[in-house]
Parts: sequence; structure tokens; C-alpha cells
Amino acid sequence: MSSAPWRVVAFLSSLVFLPAVHMNPIPPIRNSSVRCNVVMVMSDAFDGRLTTAPGNYLVDLPNLNFLKQHGAVFLNAYTNSPICCPSRAAMWSGFFPHLTESWNNYKCLDPDYPTWMDLVKRRGYVTQKFGKQDYRSGSHSLSNRVEAWTRDVPFLLRQEGRPKASLSANKTQVRIMQEDWKNADLATSWIRKQAANSSQPFFLYLGLNLPHPYPSVDMGENFGSSTFLTSPYWLQKVSYKDVTIPKWLPFQAMHPVDYYSSYTKNCTGSFTRQEIRDIRAYYYAMCAETDGIMGQIISALMDTGLLDTTCVFFTSDHGELAMEHRQFYKMSMYEGSSHVPLLVMGPNIQPGKRISNIVSLVDLYPTMLELAGVPTPLHISGYSLLPLLHARSNNDIIPELHPNWALSQFHGSDANASTYMLRENDWKYIAYSDGDSVPPQLFDLLKDPEELNNVAAQFPEVVRSMEKKLRSIVNYKEVSAAVHQYNKQSFTSWKESEGTNYTNVISNLRWHLDWSQRPKAYEMAIDRWLKNETGSMMEPPTRSSNADVKPP
Ligand SMILES: *[C@@H]1O[C@H](CO)[C@@H](O)[C@H](O)[C@H]1NC(C)=O
Ligand SMILES: *[C@@H]1O[C@H](CO)[C@@H](O)[C@H](O)[C@H]1NC(C)=O
Ligand SMILES: *[C@@H]1O[C@H](CO)[C@@H](O)[C@H](O)[C@H]1NC(C)=O
Ligand SMILES: *[C@@H]1O[C@H](CO)[C@@H](O)[C@H](O)[C@H]1NC(C)=O
Ligand SMILES: *[C@@H]1O[C@H](CO)[C@@H](O)[C@H](O)[C@H]1NC(C)=O
Ligand SMILES: *[C@@H]1O[C@H](CO)[C@@H](O)[C@H](O)[C@H]1NC(C)=O
Ligand SMILES: *[C@@H]1O[C@H](CO)[C@@H](O)[C@H](O)[C@H]1NC(C)=O
Repeated sequence: MSSAPWRVVAFLSSLVFLPAVHMNPIPPIRNSSVRCNVVMVMSDAFDGRLTTAPGNYLVDLPNLNFLKQHGAVFLNAYTNSPICCPSRAAMWSGFFPHLTESWNNYKCLDPDYPTWMDLVKRRGYVTQKFGKQDYRSGSHSLSNRVEAWTRDVPFLLRQEGRPKASLSANKTQVRIMQEDWKNADLATSWIRKQAANSSQPFFLYLGLNLPHPYPSVDMGENFGSSTFLTSPYWLQKVSYKDVTIPKWLPFQAMHPVDYYSSYTKNCTGSFTRQEIRDIRAYYYAMCAETDGIMGQIISALMDTGLLDTTCVFFTSDHGELAMEHRQFYKMSMYEGSSHVPLLVMGPNIQPGKRISNIVSLVDLYPTMLELAGVPTPLHISGYSLLPLLHARSNNDIIPELHPNWALSQFHGSDANASTYMLRENDWKYIAYSDGDSVPPQLFDLLKDPEELNNVAAQFPEVVRSMEKKLRSIVNYKEVSAAVHQYNKQSFTSWKESEGTNYTNVISNLRWHLDWSQRPKAYEMAIDRWLKNETGSMMEPPTRSSNADVKPP
């Protein structure tokens, strides 16, 4: 990591709220009579609101409900970046994405970056990871990184497949996401054989792909994952009649960055109510399958008698919009995308506890260290959740135990500006880019849970105070400028590395259908952008086919 001015700001602001826990003397490693094991299951794209709604009739999630009954649920937990790799980088490092320069799915932590699990292991704990980790630089598709680098080029190209629902032909199939079940089998067998027989406390991590949508194979290998796939077995867990059709703003009323997102995700065409309801229902069924895996883990802990001495965490890297705001996937600060589940059950946690404080994934790093008795570095972005988990109160906001705000940010593909979200009290404030060139958004989540009314103009005082607070946490103008520079530099070196094949490769990325209509013009738009020439937005390739679009 290089040093940058915004680090100092973040460092200072972390001092202001420094909780007492950071100054505790180092406790000795816990012996077996007081041991607390940890099992963390991190899913991919699980909408947190499914775990926080008081009565969730939409989908049957018996195992997550078990965790809720016997443990605590965080009602206001957020991702620090609504995309896989940067979000996980925050969780594993304890730092906000701008502090580790985790800009997109390709640029995150160095391979040997020490995570909380490395520190816990060094302390002498038994540690084990299974399944998806995805916090290191270098992965995901070429299309994905080129789309992130070129998001400031003034063109509109559809780069994700159109979202759709698909049902497995096998009526009784339970294990749809085979890889997740395979990893869950490894984890449960590890619990039964290794953990149950160990005198040392352990930390086990299981990363799932569920309920992330699947690749759309009929679109060729170049396409993203836009298929919501399940089987009748899981679909029957969804109460179809309770699946809502989200309200959409008319195109003209959409925030410009939302329009870009909707367009690049190929969601500006028309969708029937049936299509939308199916996508949402199948997504919820995929959440039910996730819950099924959680059940297998809980059973293994129960059978081995470990459940009483283990802290079980369930969370997700981000959520899923499932056609809310005319979008699928994440990359957005709307609740469906940024609100994550966070359930914790374990010793000293009052059953049925509801925690209202606003928290985020960076908090898991100090929480894990505190559980392991490892001293927490002073300058990290997160705050341990243990004071909230162990507090006697229920549902109260206790800012003395944990600052009551969360920061989320986004710098990757499918959004054409860096995005910064501050959640505080009932407000959600979203600033973009340099703060001036793109209008901000302000939502009152209590009055407007669907986030359809941007009230920034009506509440200038709230905007002013949240903007001030946001800037005290992150110097976002400078961060956005750093991302611009990184995008251009990375694109330029990639282009040079392709040499004479560049034209061929760029025209065959995920956006190839649209690109093929005016390849020279798009290449030139990129060249102008590299030369710092400003240009107005190019007309999208298939405007006529979008003209007749009506919201469902
Ligand atoms: C284990 O912890 C208990 C409770 O703190 C303590 O009484 C006991 O002496 C410890 N045993 C060892 C071997 O450290
Ligand atoms: C986008 O959706 C349209 C239908 O609305 C479809 O014809 C087209 O193939 C899709 N394009 C991509 C890139 O998914
Ligand atoms: C259907 O799924 C069940 C349960 O997963 C499995 O046992 C069976 O072999 C599958 N049938 C076919 C034809 O794939
Ligand atoms: C449990 O550990 C003991 C002592 O290390 C060993 O003898 C035994 O085989 C182990 N059991 C299993 C099921 O691994
Ligand atoms: C993002 O894209 C939208 C839709 O084309 C456009 O209106 C807007 O000006 C773009 N914003 C930026 C910051 O480039
Ligand atoms: C050029 O790009 C195409 C399309 O990505 C690829 O199939 C081909 O192997 C590349 N050729 C060379 C020489 O790299
Ligand atoms: C574009 O602007 C950046 C930042 O001001 C500068 O570093 C870079 O050299 C410029 N590139 C060109 C081709 O002028």
C-alpha cells in the first residue's frame, strides 16, 4: 500500500470513535474450558432484508430463522462495497476499500495480505477455510475489468446478459449449486472429524456462491451471470403470491448513474410482470437453497455437541437487486444491493436479540480478533461487534458501543461514477464522483423504504451535515481522482500488452453484440478518453428498440 492523503483522514476519524476494546490488555489464548469456536458462512448476493423483516412470508428459511431465534440479528448491516472482491477485501482486512485500493473485482488485496484468519492462526488457533474467498487481486473475467476501466468513456453498451429465470428439469433435485454443497460437505466432515476431536478452539470459514445468479450459457462464454436457476424443490419454499413487483421510476426520472447501470445490465428493454415475478421468486428459492446449506452446518455442530461453544456467523458480501430499480445484480447503494444479512449465535449472546446499530462488514475483522484474543490494530476501519452482541438491551441504538453509521463505496463496472454511501439514522446519503458533476441522492428509509424519492433538494441541512460527515471519513474527491488515474493507466498497459490484437480482443468482450454495430466509433471514443478529450455521450446502438418500453 502506498501512502495517500485520505488515509490520514480515515485514521483520524477512527480515533474519534475509538472504542475501549482496542485498549484492552492482550488476553491469553483461551483454553478448552472457556473456548469459543467460530464458524463463519459467507454467502454471495444474499439480500439482507430477508433476515430483518419481522415476519418473512416470502420464503421459508428455517435454518436462518433458527439462528435468529437462538442468537442475534443485525437489522442494519451493510457491505462496504456492493461487489464481490472489494467487499471481501474489506471483511478480511478490516479496512475500507479505498484504504487498500480495492477498486474492482480485479484489483483488491495482494496475495499475501494478512487477513484476520492469518492473525488468528498465528495466535495458535486451528483455522480452516473452504469455498469461495475472492478477496485477492487478479481474478474475474477480462470483460469485467475492461468494463470497470472504461466506465468513464461516454458510450452505452450492454455488457451483462439479460436477466432471466430458469427451472431445473429434475423435479426432485436438491443440490443445484453443486460446488457449494461439495464445500459444505467438506466443512461438515471437517467439523465432525477434526473440530470435534480437537482440544484447541477453531475458526472455520465457508464461502458460498449461492444465491448469486448463474452464467447464461446460451449467451456464450463471454457473458456474465444473469440466470436465476433453481428447482421445484426450492421453489415450493417461496410464497409466490407474496412476491412483489417493484415500482420503477420512469426513465426520465432515473438518476443518470442508475440509467447507465440499468442499460449496461440490459434491463432497459421491456419485461413482463411474469418475467419479473419469476426472477424474484427464483432468486428467493436460491436463498432457500443457501439456507439448506446452513442447515447442514448447524446440524454438524449440534451432533458433535459443538453448537454451545461456537459462535456461528452468517453474512454475505452484498445483496441482489432482483429487478428492483430496473436492475439485477448489485453495484448499487440501494437496499437490495447494499444491505447484507448478519446473524450471530453463540455463548453469551441473548437468544432473539435484535440489534439496531448500523454496522458493516469491516467490523467482522476486529470482531474475529477480539474473539481470538488477538490485539486489534489501532488504525483499522472497523469496530468490534462484541460490545453490541453482549449488551443486555434489545433493539436500542447504543452509539457508545459502536458508532452508528456505515460507509459503502463502489468503483467497478456497471456504474459510471465512483459512488459513496453514508448510512446514518434513517437517512441514506449517496455522493458521486467529485461531488459536483453528478447530483447526490438522499433517501429517508423510514418513509420511503423503496428509495424512489430522492429528497436531497428538500433537506439541504441533512445533505450538508451528511456530506460533511462523509468527507470526515473519506476524502472522496481524491479517491475518485485516484480511481480515474488507475483506470486509465491500467487500461493503457492492458491495451499495450495486447499489441496488434487489441482491436480483435476488445470487440469480442461481453459487449460484442452492441460493439459490432459501430466498432470504429467505440474504439475512437476510448482513444479520446485516453487523451483526456471530453466528449458527449454517444447514442446507444439500439435506441429504437428501447423507445416503446413501458414499466410493468
Ligand atoms: C483454563 O481456564 C480456566 C478459566 O479461566 C482456568 O481456571 C484454568 O486454570 C485454565 N486452564 C489452563 C490449563 O490454563
Ligand atoms: C438484451 O436483451 C434483448 C432483449 O431485450 C436481447 O435481444 C439481447 O440479446 C440482449 N443482449 C444482451 C447482450 O444480453
Ligand atoms: C434428480 O435429483 C435427485 C436428487 O438430487 C437425484 O438423486 C437424481 O439422480 C436426479 N435425477 C436425474 C435424472 O438427474
Ligand atoms: C481423535 O484424537 C485422538 C487423539 O489424538 C485419536 O486417537 C483419535 O483417532 C481421533 N479420532 C478421530 C475420529 O479422528
Ligand atoms: C453516466 O451515464 C448516464 C447515462 O448515459 C449519463 O447520462 C451520465 O451523464 C453519465 N455520467 C457520468 C458521470 O459520466
Ligand atoms: C487475438 O484475440 C482473439 C480474440 O480474443 C483470440 O481468439 C486470439 O487468440 C488472439 N490472438 C493472439 C495472437 O493473441
Ligand atoms: C490526462 O490527465 C491526467 C491527469 O491530469 C494526466 O496525468 C495524463 O498525463 C493526461 N494524459 C494525456 C494523454 O494528456
